Amino acid sequence: MYDFEMRVSLNFTKSLAEVLAKHTGLAQNELEIAIETPPDSKLGHFAFPCFGLAKEMKKSPTAISAELAEKIESERPGWLAQAVSTGAYVNFFLNRTAFAGNVLFDVLEAGEGYGADGEGLGQAVIVEYSSPNIAKHFHVGHLGTTIIGKVIDNVYRFLGYDVTSINHLGDWGTQFGKLITAYKKWGSREEIEQTEIAGLVKLYVKFHEEADKDASLNDEARAWVVKMQDGDKESLEIWQWFCELSMKEFNRIYDRLDIVFDSIRGESFYNGQMEAVAEMLEKKGLLKESEGAKIVDLEEWNMPPSLILRSDGGTLYTTRDIAAAIYRYETYEFNKCLYVTGNEQSLHFAQWMKVVELMGYPWAKNIEHIPYGMYLFESGKMSTRRGDVIKVEDLLNEAAAKTLAIINEKNPALENKERVAEQIGVGALKFGKLYNSRIKDTVFDWDRMLNFEGETGPYVQYTHARACSVLRKSLSDDSNMDFAALGLALISGATFDSSLLADDEAFDVLRILHDFPAKVLDCAEKYEPFIIARHVVALAQAYNTFYTKHQILVDDEPTRRARLALTAGVRQVIKTGLGLLGISAPVVM
Ligand code: ARG
Repeated sequence: MYDFEMRVSLNFTKSLAEVLAKHTGLAQNELEIAIETPPDSKLGHFAFPCFGLAKEMKKSPTAISAELAEKIESERPGWLAQAVSTGAYVNFFLNRTAFAGNVLFDVLEAGEGYGADGEGLGQAVIVEYSSPNIAKHFHVGHLGTTIIGKVIDNVYRFLGYDVTSINHLGDWGTQFGKLITAYKKWGSREEIEQTEIAGLVKLYVKFHEEADKDASLNDEARAWVVKMQDGDKESLEIWQWFCELSMKEFNRIYDRLDIVFDSIRGESFYNGQMEAVAEMLEKKGLLKESEGAKIVDLEEWNMPPSLILRSDGGTLYTTRDIAAAIYRYETYEFNKCLYVTGNEQSLHFAQWMKVVELMGYPWAKNIEHIPYGMYLFESGKMSTRRGDVIKVEDLLNEAAAKTLAIINEKNPALENKERVAEQIGVGALKFGKLYNSRIKDTVFDWDRMLNFEGETGPYVQYTHARACSVLRKSLSDDSNMDFAALGLALISGATFDSSLLADDEAFDVLRILHDFPAKVLDCAEKYEPFIIARHVVALAQAYNTFYTKHQILVDDEPTRRARLALTAGVRQVIKTGLGLLGISAPVVM
């Protein structure tokens, strides 16, 4: 039976650290960090290395370990089955019954909230991501930031941080002068309304073709830029229209990726602040003149100078970033401001962040660049003719179409096929980017991403659907109880007996459920979505092993209840984990 007396805290690592603190006199939080997981669970479920204590206690680690194990054994709490000294380590075995009961109570009682404990309450975090460029397609170069940024956004929100997600659109620059010139000469309003960004790209290409023959076009384009900067109504109206047209494509993509920004504010928003930034730098004695331009010298930090004002009045990507950071601090008083972009922009971020630091802002230490690796495509296979960009909209369509083909083969009678195909296809695309350390380049490979048996999104989603199906079968046909309520009902029943989950397969599953909150925190600290992605894969694998070995809907009521409770816990954590990764979890597939 599950013994409520043995219910400890949410976290066994914490409880163990408490026990260790009592016997060593060391601080609990330090001990918590020192606790390890043995490579083989036959050695123990947790291990505490004694090397660090040797100097202070003037004894060998082995002797300390032996003494400590003995002390702990003498007043061992019920949830601990055994403390053994093995060399310099004290290894701990958990009482499996207590562990199973505690973990399932924690998961099923907290439900959707399991995994977070209000860690971020009262702290403001800005996550800037996606930030595509107006009048250019949303291409694969912005896919990584969009997928990874969304996870960081989700995870911080989940932990209770006050998150503001920002889309820093590239909506200003000399290209708009060219576009307006081309539009006025060769454009048709109707055609562009219809073709959106494709029409704008066509105009842009045409401009360059014509400008090669007639250089005066460049002067015209420049004149339009000056007009825009001076607030000319006509040019700004056309520009605004280009922005709106572009947002149509972007919003279709955000809808499909399930992304909503708290603030969509383009670079143009900071136009009026360029001079002020330059003045501040001047006052602090940081600005230097160089060939007509204004720069901040960063030689001391082994970086090229930061370009603040250009001699030709051209685009000022860096200065806008400085202005935006100042604006964000003034507006949100952030505790952390994060920027997710491709690693090819790392130097740019290092430069302007250094400038902000030199300006003496105390919050400069709270801004961070989160770089990631790019997508690699097998040569020829994915690139379009003439090396055109790969459009994200095309990738999403392809993901859904390929998945639909698989469903038509595997489960043609599935209801809502199109919708499920979208959920699986888009999920697979996201998961493919999230499974490895973000800095690694991602080799684009549909077959691998869509493999239902691999370490993939569809595999995890499939396991979730399987858990849902088992739970549904346990309910009577007319029951409309949802899975969360069912989970709670299962553990609340008098016949819930967690000693029936003491087998190795169940224990492995429980261990992964137990570690989930720590993984969420680790992901937040390192900005590494793969930590969660890999954890949900491990959970799916462990549950499938359990499922193959143990029948769940058996006649024996207590056994069935215990195994269903485990299944309910797995369903909950996979669902939450996928949710944090921005991936939906269909109940049937
Ligand atoms: N629009 C930029 C690009 O496509 C990305 C903006 C990144 N964010 C920033 N604050 N600079 O390259």
